[in-house]
Amino acid sequence: MRNFIFLLVVSIVTADKSDVKFRIDCWPEPGPNKANCESRGCTNDHLSNNTGPPNTPSCFMPREQMGYSATRVRDGEWKLTKNKGLANPWGGGDLPSLKFSYNDVGDSVINVRIEDNLKRLETGDLLNLPRATQSTIERLIVDVRDTSDPFSFQVKREDGQSIFDTSPGGLIFSDKFIQLAVQLPSSRMFGWGENVHPHLKVSILFTWSLRTTEQRMVITVPAPGYVYRTIGGILDIYLFPGPSPAEVIQQYTAFVGRSFLPPYWALGFQLCRYGYKSLDDMKSRVDAVRGYKIPFDVAYSDIDYMDRSKDFTIGANWAGFGDYVKQLHDWGMHNILIFDPSIEVDYDTFQRAIDKNASFLEWERPDEVPHDIQDLYPLVKNTKILLSVVWPDKHVAFPDFLDPQKETSEWWTDEFRRFHDQIAFDGAWIDMNEPAAFGTNELNPFYFDNDNHPNLKPLSCPLTGPDSEWDAPPYKTQAVYNFGKGAYLAVKTVCMRAMCGRGSVRQYDVHSLYGWSESRVTADAMRAATGKRGVVISRSTFPSSGRFGGHWLGDNTATWDDLRSAVIGVMEFNLFGIPYVGSDVCGFNGNTTEQLCLRWHQLGAFHSFYRLAQLIINHNTDDGMDQDPAVWESVAVATRNANQFRYEYLPYLYSLHYRASLYGDTVIRPLFFDFGSDMKTLEIDEQFMWGPSILVTPVLKENASTMQGYIPQVPGVSFYSLYSPDASLSDFSYGKKVASGIANFPALTTYNEPTLVRSGSIIPRQASAVTTVAARKGNLNLLIVPGEDTDRSATGELYWDDGDSIVEDIHTSFTKTSFNFSMTSTASTLTMTVAPVEGVTNPSLEFFEIFSYPTAVDFKKFTMNGETLSIDSQAF
Ligand SMILES: *[C@@H]1O[C@H](CO)[C@@H](O)[C@H](O)[C@H]1NC(C)=O
Ligand SMILES: *[C@@H]1O[C@H](CO)[C@@H](O)[C@H](O)[C@H]1NC(C)=O
Ligand SMILES: *[C@@H]1O[C@H](CO)[C@@H](O)[C@H](O)[C@H]1NC(C)=O
Ligand SMILES: *[C@@H]1O[C@H](CO)[C@@H](O)[C@H](O)[C@H]1NC(C)=O
Ligand SMILES: *[C@@H]1O[C@H](CO)[C@@H](O)[C@H](O)[C@H]1NC(C)=O
Repeated sequence: MRNFIFLLVVSIVTADKSDVKFRIDCWPEPGPNKANCESRGCTNDHLSNNTGPPNTPSCFMPREQMGYSATRVRDGEWKLTKNKGLANPWGGGDLPSLKFSYNDVGDSVINVRIEDNLKRLETGDLLNLPRATQSTIERLIVDVRDTSDPFSFQVKREDGQSIFDTSPGGLIFSDKFIQLAVQLPSSRMFGWGENVHPHLKVSILFTWSLRTTEQRMVITVPAPGYVYRTIGGILDIYLFPGPSPAEVIQQYTAFVGRSFLPPYWALGFQLCRYGYKSLDDMKSRVDAVRGYKIPFDVAYSDIDYMDRSKDFTIGANWAGFGDYVKQLHDWGMHNILIFDPSIEVDYDTFQRAIDKNASFLEWERPDEVPHDIQDLYPLVKNTKILLSVVWPDKHVAFPDFLDPQKETSEWWTDEFRRFHDQIAFDGAWIDMNEPAAFGTNELNPFYFDNDNHPNLKPLSCPLTGPDSEWDAPPYKTQAVYNFGKGAYLAVKTVCMRAMCGRGSVRQYDVHSLYGWSESRVTADAMRAATGKRGVVISRSTFPSSGRFGGHWLGDNTATWDDLRSAVIGVMEFNLFGIPYVGSDVCGFNGNTTEQLCLRWHQLGAFHSFYRLAQLIINHNTDDGMDQDPAVWESVAVATRNANQFRYEYLPYLYSLHYRASLYGDTVIRPLFFDFGSDMKTLEIDEQFMWGPSILVTPVLKENASTMQGYIPQVPGVSFYSLYSPDASLSDFSYGKKVASGIANFPALTTYNEPTLVRSGSIIPRQASAVTTVAARKGNLNLLIVPGEDTDRSATGELYWDDGDSIVEDIHTSFTKTSFNFSMTSTASTLTMTVAPVEGVTNPSLEFFEIFSYPTAVDFKKFTMNGETLSIDSQAF
C-alpha cells in the first residue's frame, strides 16, 4: 500500500518550551528492559528521576545517527542511501536505496514522496480523487538538507517558519515497516482520526492508532512532534498550507473531494434501536415519540428486521414492514435500514452473486481453502471465497467492493433494487464494514454457546510459516502490542493475506478502504434503487469517504465521557471532510439515565446526523428497558424543545451543508476556526460553532445547574443570546447582548443548549413542524443581528432546492439568496438577491426579526423596491 498522508497544516502555531527529549520508542512490545532494549541497539533509560512526562519511552532509538544520506539527482529529486546508523530493529531489511522527491500540486499543495523503485499499489489511485487545488496567498517551501547525515527535510512557510521538520532523524524504510519522525513547531496538533479522545488537541503523550477496527500507524512522542509508523507501502505526503484553518479544510476537500449533500429530511431527528422484537415493537416506539409531538423524521431498523441477520430479507415478526414504510412516507417520514457487508453463503442473494460472477474476498491459492468449512456450502465448495463468521447463522463472505469489474457493484445494486421493491427504504446504514468478523483465530469465540448464535468455526489466518507474511509482519503495529498477548492484525477482522480487487490487491494493503469502497458502491446502489438522493451512513471511513456518505461515531456507551467525546468527534469529522456526522444519542451500549439522555438530545439537536440509537436486548424477558425520549416526561419535553429549535434553523443548517459541498466549509467546528485571534479559543473543545453564526455551549456535566463557557473576545464581534425565552434568565434572555469572556450559562433542562448568535449575521429560519417535510412548506423568516461596524451591516444566505432529488451538478442545482442588511441614522436597508434555478422556488418571506434595533420604528416609511408599503403597526 502507498500510505497516503494528508497533513492539515493549521497556521496557528506557537513554539512550546518543551525540554523533554524527542524519544522514539524502540520497545513498544510489553516489558522493555535494559537487556532486550540493548539487544536492539537502542538506549535504555528508565527516567527513574521522574524527569519525563508519563508515557516517555524508556527504550529509545539512537535517532540522531539513523536514516539515509542524500545525493541530489535533479531539481526536486534525490537518491537516498541507507547510512550506518541503526537498522530496522524488527528486522526485515532496510531498503538500501530510495527516491525522495517533492512537487507542487497546483497552487496550494506540496507533495513529498519517499519511495523505493518497486511498482507498488497506490492507494491514491484507487481513491480516484479529484486532486483539485485552489489558490492561496500562502506558499510552502521544501528545504532539503542533503549535506547532513542523515539527510532531512523541512517544509516551511515563506516567512521561514518550519511546519514539518524531519531533522530528529530516525527514518526507517523496509518492505513492511516505515518510520518517519517529525518535529512540529507547536504541540497544537489536531485531527488524527478516527480515535475517541478526551480533547480536540491531540495529546502528544499518547499513542494513536489509525487503522480501521483496531490498529496501525501513529506514535506521538513527548515533544512537539510525532513518529509516523506504518507497515508497508511508500510515503506519499500532501501538505496544505492554509493559512487559515478553514482554508486548510477547503484545500484538503478540494483535493480529496467535497462532501455529498444530504437530503433535507436526513437533517431531521432519527430514532433507532437494536433490539426491537417485532414490527409492532418498532411501531409502538415510533408512536410514543410522535405522541409527544416531538419533531421526528426517520425511523430505523437495525438487524432485528432481517430474517436471522441475512441482508435483504425480512424476519417473521416483521410481516407488513413494507406497508409500514409506506405509512411512514404518508406521514412525511422516512426509513433507513441497516445493511451489513457480510453475506451468508447459502441463500438466494448469494446465489445471485455467484450467478452474476460478483467477486468476494478470497484466498490466494486453492490449497489455502479450509475444506472443513468450505465444503459445508455447495455454492462456495469449489471456490476460493474466504468464509468468516458474523451475525448470521451460517458462514459469510465479504463482497469485494474494490472489484475493478462491474459485476460486484451491479449485483449489490440489483439486491438494493429488489429489496427496495419490498420495502421502500430511503437510506442505508452500513455497519460492520472494517470489515468486522467474529472470533478470527480464536479457539473459544464470544459467540460459542450463545443461545442466539451457533458455534460456527471461525476464520483462521496463518500466523506462522511461509503464509504468515501478511498476518504476522515483523513489526506488528502499536495497537497489536497494546492489545496484549496473542494479538495479531486480523483480530476481529479478516486475514490480511486475503485477496480483493478481483485478486489484484491484498487486504493488507487496502484494509482501511473496505468501508470507503462499500460507501461508494452503496451510494450508487441507493440512488439506482430509490431514484432519489438518499443517504448512506458508514461506520468505517477513509479520506474522501465524505463524498459518498456520512458517519456516526461508532458504538458508544451511555456515559458522560462519551457525551463529551461526541462533541470532539463531530468537530474532527468536519475537519476530515465528512460533515454529516453525529453520535448515538443517549449512548448505544449500557443503560442510559434520564439526565444523560436529556443532555444528549440537547447536544445532538445541533449535530447534522441526529440519531437516538440504543442497544436494548433482553432475550429472556419482555421488560428490556425502553430508552427513547418518550420514556421520561422530562426527556420528551426537553427533546421536543431542542428539536423545535433545530427544525426552526434547518434552512440555515441545510445551507451550511450546501457550502460544505460547494466550498469545503465546515458545518460544526472549533471556536478557533472563527476566532483564532483570541488565543484562548485554541484550547476550547467543550463548545463549538454551528456554522459561522451560532456558538453552542453544551451541558456536558452531570447534575450541572450551570455550564461554564467562553465567549471569544474579538474586536468588532459581539454575541447575542438565542437562549432562552425564559425571561427569568435575565442574563441570557433571548436577544440580549452577552459580554465576552468566561460566562456561566444556566443549564436548563427544558430548552435547548446555551446558544448565542454572532453580530453581523442573517439567519434564514422556518417555523418548526413535526417533520422536515412539513417544516419546508412553511414561510421563511429572517433573524437579523446587526454588526458592530458603523453600517451595522449583516449578511447571510439561503441555499434551497427540493431537498430530495439526485444532485447532478452541485454547482447549478440550487436557488441562492443573499441577504444584506445595513443601517444609517435615517434608514435601514435589507437587500435580497436571488439567483434562481428553474423548478426551485424559495419559501415566501413572512417576517424578519432584528436584534438590538436602536430606535423606534416609523411604520409609515417602509418601502419595498422603492414603493411605499403600508404596514399594520398593530400586528408588527
Ligand atoms: C538521574 O539521577 C542520577 C543520580 O542523580 C543521575 O546520575 C542521572 O543522570 C539522572 N538521569 C536523568 C535522566 O536525569
Ligand atoms: C468471472 O470473471 C472472471 C474475471 O474476469 C473471469 O475470468 C471468469 O471467466 C468469469 N466467470 C464467468 C462465469 O463469467
Ligand atoms: C440495564 O437494565 C436492565 C433492566 O433493568 C438490566 O437487566 C441490565 O443488567 C442493565 N444493564 C447494565 C449494563 O447495567
Ligand atoms: C448527581 O446527583 C446524584 C443524585 O444526587 C448523585 O448520586 C451523583 O453522584 C451526582 N453526580 C455527580 C457527578 O455529582
Ligand atoms: C451589502 O451592503 C453593503 C452596504 O450597502 C455593501 O457595501 C456590500 O457590498 C453588500 N454586500 C453584499 C454581499 O451584497
